[in-house]
Amino acid sequence: MGRLRIGCVGTGFIAGKHLAALATFDDVDVVAVADPVEHRAVAVAAEHDARRYADGLDLMESEDLDAVWFCVPPFAHGPLEEAAVRRALPFFVEKPLAHDYRTAAHIARLVADSDLPTAVGYHWRHLDLVTKARELVADRPPLLLTGSWLDGTPPVPWWVRRGLSGGQLIEQTTHVLDLARLIVGEVIDLRAAHVAAVGTDGEEPVPLASAVSLRFESGAVGSVSSARVLPVRHRVGIQVVGDGYVLELTERAIVDHELNVTTVDGTMSERSGQDPVAAEDRAFLDAVAGRGDDVRSPYADALLTHALACRAERPTDGGI
Ligand SMILES: NC(=O)c1ccc[n+]([C@@H]2O[C@H](COP(=O)([O-])OP(=O)(O)OC[C@H]3O[C@@H](n4cnc5c(N)ncnc54)[C@H](O)[C@@H]3O)[C@@H](O)[C@H]2O)c1
Repeated sequence: MGRLRIGCVGTGFIAGKHLAALATFDDVDVVAVADPVEHRAVAVAAEHDARRYADGLDLMESEDLDAVWFCVPPFAHGPLEEAAVRRALPFFVEKPLAHDYRTAAHIARLVADSDLPTAVGYHWRHLDLVTKARELVADRPPLLLTGSWLDGTPPVPWWVRRGLSGGQLIEQTTHVLDLARLIVGEVIDLRAAHVAAVGTDGEEPVPLASAVSLRFESGAVGSVSSARVLPVRHRVGIQVVGDGYVLELTERAIVDHELNVTTVDGTMSERSGQDPVAAEDRAFLDAVAGRGDDVRSPYADALLTHALACRAERPTDGGI
């Protein structure tokens, strides 16, 4: 395979991060972008010398691509992935997989039947600090996990509407749940409680705060707190306690992470400016080109994290 021909559906915030990373790779051409918001699509298409579409389905229909990135809000998933599978087109999709569980489970079945390369934007999995944390706990099993996503309400208009974004646990805290699975192991029991918000426009709003308790297969226990009512991000990350150590992983921004490990020897602190979005993009491109096997969040695995987030968001939803 020569140069890789890439399309990107959605040209908002996270698409900007992926497109900036893709532009640094010398074997990639971003040939087309799509977004229904015309001025955004026009600007991004011009910046990358790419063709512009209003609709992602048209983009896939019209272009000869090696892979496509889906950087759309949670409510927009389903038809795009179905079309990619139909065309045998490998896709990278931003988390969450969807605003609900049913859509993602349906796509997961199609992906499994197709054997198509996929990757999901759980970018923490590509951080060197996370690899280091996993090595640290490998022979000292975690006993207790405390996770947090304590933040403000994102300004994008779809976010606060639960029917569009899914809610904070599906949309944001899903990163923390994914990290919990990666570092502590699979979850066998989950309970959740929410502080509801009062809606003003007939739409169900995203709860103001949530508490989730977890029991892991290993016997470890955990809790994850979320809130969306702060003026700025306060804390996003996890704290893990095991026999003789406490480990903290924190994200200040997508390219600003910190690992602190305290043991009897004192505290080790490491801060990283590594770009995990570029790392996950590179790993997926290499998989598409048949040159690598380092996709750390394929669709099937991401569905397990999404299922936890959906169960936490709507504990009584029998569809999960
Ligand atoms: N991995 C991360 O840390 C991370 C960070 C930010 C956002 N995200 C995820 O990325 C997704 C998008 O978030 P964002 O912050 O970029 O939002 P955004 O609102 O800035 O951008 C989304 C874009 O998608 C466009 N869009 C909507 N429906 C579409 C459709 N059917 N086809 C094509 N384009 C469509 C919108 O017009 C908008 O321009 C969300 O699911 C979010 O959770 C992930």
